[in-house]
Amino acid sequence: TLTQAEKAAVVTIWAKVATQSDAIGAESLERLFFSFPQTKTYFPHFDLSQGSAQLRGHGSKVMNAIGEAVKHVDDIRGALAKLSELHAYILRVDPVNFKLLSHCILCSVAAHYPSDFTPEVHAAWDKFLSSVSSVLTEKYR
Ligand code: HEM
Repeated sequence: TLTQAEKAAVVTIWAKVATQSDAIGAESLERLFFSFPQTKTYFPHFDLSQGSAQLRGHGSKVMNAIGEAVKHVDDIRGALAKLSELHAYILRVDPVNFKLLSHCILCSVAAHYPSDFTPEVHAAWDKFLSSVSSVLTEKYR
């Protein structure tokens, strides 16, 4: 669980990210598919070329879900319950991929807000993304 200071850092950086969340979502997916091409196997039905409408649409959905988790930082499990079932039971995404996507989201946020991305913000945002990933993968067990 996040400390009060970590929650505050997450809320602060999110306030910035939210203003460009579609762009950051699309960029995170581009980084994911470019650096870790094996992740593309989950999206055979998508046009994954850079800037495609599907990529942008999906990036926006992913970031909306992250925004919900920020809003309900004390109940991420409740906020993402439906998504957790979707990823575990229907999509069957291997949990290792969540680390890869989290890393790519982290990089995108750092690239967009270099001066806000202090070591404290970095650590808090990383911990937050890892809580989101735990919630989305816990139904596998
Ligand atoms: C769908 C969020 C990680 C693969 C979705 C949707 C959301 C979402 C909001 C749309 C659900 C809907 O339409 O009702 C997230 C979040 C993640 C995450 C917040 C972690 C931070 C992953 C990972 C993969 C993945 C790591 C695989 C590499 C998919 C696929 C779909 C999907 C294949 C269905 C796409 C479609 O056909 O429209 N995810 N996801 N997700 N996600 Fe994730």
